[in-house]
Amino acid sequence: MNYKHAFHAGNHTEVFKHSVLCLLLAHLRQKPKPFAVLDTHAGAGSYDLLSVESEKTGEARDGIARVIDKDVPAASLFLNLVRHLNPRGLRFYPGSPAIVQSFLGEDDRLIACELREDDAASLRTNFKNDSRTSVHCRDGYEAIGAFIPLVMRRGLVFIDPPFEQPEEFQRIADALNFGIKKWPTGILDLVKLDTGAANPALNRNVVHPLVVNWPSNERQAEIVQRIESIATEAKLLESLYERKLAEITDLKQSILQKAFSGELSLRPSQAVKEAAE
Ligand SMILES: C[S@@+](CC[C@H](N)C(=O)[O-])C[C@H]1O[C@@H](n2cnc3c(N)ncnc32)[C@H](O)[C@@H]1O
Repeated sequence: MNYKHAFHAGNHTEVFKHSVLCLLLAHLRQKPKPFAVLDTHAGAGSYDLLSVESEKTGEARDGIARVIDKDVPAASLFLNLVRHLNPRGLRFYPGSPAIVQSFLGEDDRLIACELREDDAASLRTNFKNDSRTSVHCRDGYEAIGAFIPLVMRRGLVFIDPPFEQPEEFQRIADALNFGIKKWPTGILDLVKLDTGAANPALNRNVVHPLVVNWPSNERQAEIVQRIESIATEAKLLESLYERKLAEITDLKQSILQKAFSGELSLRPSQAVKEAAE
């Protein structure tokens, strides 16, 4: 395998895919229930933009360096994370497993797979004190077969391959089909951003055979009806709550009036006792 991610860390496609990753993770965090993430092509975890590899390509200069000080609302979660890592100027860039780690709660889990031994070793070192994470030096597509469905119902499979092997698209299509079938409640995110001779584009032949489990039209209509009836119920509850709140305010007002005009002579505990009798 020729690809080494340190040469490309922080380039413009990275900023885009990591901003989307943050949005997906923020979505998972909205609910208190735990979630799990499988990062199939994890890389080394974090990168030094002053390293020989990064300096050689200079890709980060046209990526993260151009937006780190900008106000980009859709990317704000990600940009804040990078700013937090770099209080004294841009140098360190988080890879996908480090980004996932920053969103994990106590009961959430991350499984990170990386085929290169040197990058897997860096990952292990980075995560050795975090019992919520596990690192595997193994093929990411095989890992989908081995770990899906993940232990939790909710979660994400982040698939971010280097697209070096000619048979890679078939493996991706197989993995997606398997994942969708075995873990319908999970999110599967395939990253394919750049094109070119060395990076063939995703085309109809690849996408067409994917089986996506849309509910039938009848089921969709049922779901919409259910949501509408819950919304009506919620509106009724809201107006009931507002009415009760207004009544309580009136009651409070009249008690205060009575108290000031001397009509309230009993202490509350005495009144309760008498009412019980
Ligand atoms: C685009 S990089 C991943 C970057 C990482 N996901 C991130 O966002 O920071 C692709 C990584 O996949 C690794 N890799 C290549 N083929 C693999 C395979 N079959 N299984 C697991 N990892 C693989 C490469 O060594 C490389 O580190």
